[in-house]
Amino acid sequence: MIDPETVTRLDAQAQQILRANDKGGYTVPTKGLYPFQWNWDSALTALGIACFDADRAWQEIEKLLSAQWDNGMVPHIVFWQHEEGYFPGPGEWRSERTPPTSGITQPPVAATVVRQLASFLPGDHGARVTPMLHALDRWHQWFANARDPDGIGVVAIMHPWESGRDNLPDWDAPLAHVDTSSVGAFMRRDIQLVNAAERPVNDDYNHYMALVQFGRTCQWDVKTIAEKCPFWVAEPGMNAILRRAERDMIALAMQFNLPSIAARATRRLARLDHGFNQLWSNIAQGYTTLDLRNKKLEHRLSSGSWLSLYGGPENDIRAKSHYFNLIEWRQKIRFALPSFDPGDPAFDDIRYWRGPVWAMINWMVATGLAEHGRPDLASLLADDTAALIEQSAFREYFSPVTGKGGGGKDFSWTAAMWLYWASPSARQKTETQ
Ligand code: GLC
Repeated sequence: MIDPETVTRLDAQAQQILRANDKGGYTVPTKGLYPFQWNWDSALTALGIACFDADRAWQEIEKLLSAQWDNGMVPHIVFWQHEEGYFPGPGEWRSERTPPTSGITQPPVAATVVRQLASFLPGDHGARVTPMLHALDRWHQWFANARDPDGIGVVAIMHPWESGRDNLPDWDAPLAHVDTSSVGAFMRRDIQLVNAAERPVNDDYNHYMALVQFGRTCQWDVKTIAEKCPFWVAEPGMNAILRRAERDMIALAMQFNLPSIAARATRRLARLDHGFNQLWSNIAQGYTTLDLRNKKLEHRLSSGSWLSLYGGPENDIRAKSHYFNLIEWRQKIRFALPSFDPGDPAFDDIRYWRGPVWAMINWMVATGLAEHGRPDLASLLADDTAALIEQSAFREYFSPVTGKGGGGKDFSWTAAMWLYWASPSARQKTETQ
């Protein structure tokens, strides 16, 4: 139990972080380390902003969608303003757009967030939501066309950064096939700002940059990428989030009388729901990463495995194995949900995505657990998230072993998840609604 005074203090602090990270229409994830607009950060951050400024929350999504590419992709970073020294910056991505953006996308949580906002903010949102739905429909269609051109029912990522779970051990084997010989020298900025032990190692960065080079050389042509990109991987996080987003889009399209959007999303969803099974590992008893280029299924679980509960209805047998695995993991550490298997040799409790807990993943997984009739496990995740924030404040992520914070400080989506979900005051609000 967190005492009421601490709750009041943390509520105020979270709001203050979101205001301080507001650059006017968009919010940076954190100052210094991530000084631009990031795609899924913004969407999730809007949930927190909505707790004190509804109009500003909608703006966050509108601003993100205003950077949509002509082909429908919503980029993972939008470089609204110039910042000296960020790496890899606009010159590396060469999007040839104004404002410059990166050339890849990120998990499409935006439609889900729009549905949440439309359901809990007062008022009639039709005029605002309709243009957003058109943009989101084009983005989801881009996923279907560009990232699943053969219609197999799972979308691929062409870069680990597209998954949003940048440094997961799942990428090690697929990345080993990527040739880094022409990458050359570059200067990282992240390790000047945070402890190098918490960030990806240099060899990983060489691979990341080789893929950026691949993309810019073909000018981000989706056909070339699908046919030839050396990294072409389907993973449960991205696919579950997209399935959820399609479901939420169908509900919104029906609510706001947009039947053709509802019909398109329904067709795409059927394909995705069916295809998701390809990510099931009998050995791991959960959903894992499938390297489509090298036809190899991973057999270790990651936090993305549980996102299947958030993605859509899970059958009873598989749902039970998710609960069992979750309880088993939790017994090995102190705070759920680690980003990677705490029993695996690759687990590292403080290094980027190789072990640490992220608050927004916890919110998504908890949402899925509650929807599957496990409010007890959903509360466990909310309690663990709240305890981590109480111990270490609004850090980018936390060690599941010690609770120590890592990466950036005063982080927007951590603050947002506190305000919207993990804070005892947020939970009281939902219970009384
Ligand atoms: C890192 C994370 C990614 C996030 C970004 C900004 O790249 O892995 O998920 O969007 O930081 O917070």
